Amino acid sequence: MSALNIKEPAIPFGSRVVISGVSGFIGSHVADQALAAGYKVRGTTRDVRKSDWIKKHFEETYGPGNFELVEVRDMAAEGAFDKAVVGAAGFIHVANDMTSSPNASIAIPRAVNGALNALRASAKEPSIKRFVYTSSSFAATLPKPGQRFTIAADTFNEEAIERARGPDADGDSVYAASKVEAERAIAKWVQENDSSLEVNYILPNANIGPLISAANQGYPTTARWTKALWDSDYASLSHVPPQYYINVQDDARLHIIGLADPAVQGERIFAVAGPFNLPDILEALRRLYPERKWEDYPDDRRDLSTFEPITRAEALLKKAYGSGFVGLEESVRGNVVDLIHG
Ligand SMILES: NC(=O)c1ccc[n+]([C@@H]2O[C@H](COP(=O)([O-])OP(=O)(O)OC[C@H]3O[C@@H](n4cnc5c(N)ncnc54)[C@H](OP(=O)(O)O)[C@@H]3O)[C@@H](O)[C@H]2O)c1
Repeated sequence: MSALNIKEPAIPFGSRVVISGVSGFIGSHVADQALAAGYKVRGTTRDVRKSDWIKKHFEETYGPGNFELVEVRDMAAEGAFDKAVVGAAGFIHVANDMTSSPNASIAIPRAVNGALNALRASAKEPSIKRFVYTSSSFAATLPKPGQRFTIAADTFNEEAIERARGPDADGDSVYAASKVEAERAIAKWVQENDSSLEVNYILPNANIGPLISAANQGYPTTARWTKALWDSDYASLSHVPPQYYINVQDDARLHIIGLADPAVQGERIFAVAGPFNLPDILEALRRLYPERKWEDYPDDRRDLSTFEPITRAEALLKKAYGSGFVGLEESVRGNVVDLIHG
């Protein structure tokens, strides 16, 4: 993958970008790509002591003075990000509670208030010109294996909103609803306040790929799936339906494009490379490591949905980075690499 090539970035290289949730699977890669592109990064975490490893990691990789870590204990508290934004030029809001709480009255306001606090702080800071929100493909649809339907750039997951409000609320629908509500709250606030902030939304499906530090991060969220297959821990995967994947570094690069590409304005970008099911990951593992043996993982279902603007993300990656999506097998290899060598 070549370096970022954007001639006149919307946020000048060398300026500072705030990235919330920087210790996480995706946030750490967004920071990595931002630093690789020549930005300075101010990452936020709820606990600077616990996340200190990431400061050390980026100082070793990119030299001192390019990465700082600041504590934001409760992103839903009013003014949470006001200090974190001082002097920054852009904000990428990645942080989110990923415990899949089925309690809509807690999970939705937490996500919405976190996003609005990040947005308001950014709008108040005159040097900040762009805001990127990490949404989810679940904000458009939950996976529906076997069903043919098309998702458009303006599709919102009304079904999840309905379910999250009712007696059948579950973790996935509440999570999906929280992403819809957060996106809508952001757009509404920008409109009502006539803000000049440029906002882009990245909507990834399942991220697969390497960890910045498996030793410190473990295998959070979707990084766990490939590890569970590697460990033959099939029982823990029963709730993972066929859906789309995205290599986590491609996802991070799309966040940087949302921040820097002057042609990307007010867009919802689906970070989805291709459909997969868990047997596809297992097949990739078998091809990569023929000496290891795994039992079959039975699931013959397929995600048959289509993302209408699917070519947009890949075209943006090709334009900015010179190549398109990283494939599933390479993503799987990255996901397990530390299990072999680490
Ligand atoms: N993984 C995927 O495939 C996927 C797909 C679609 C969308 N997303 C979205 O991508 C973002 C990152 O997900 P991820 O997979 O990287 O998850 P992750 O590894 O759990 O990272 C999320 C980070 O957010 C912070 N966080 C957790 N709860 C928080 C809270 N209540 N308030 C403030 N910060 C909190 C944590 O950092 P600290 O503990 O350091 O504060 C954590 O490292 C989320 O917005 C998620 O919805 C992920």
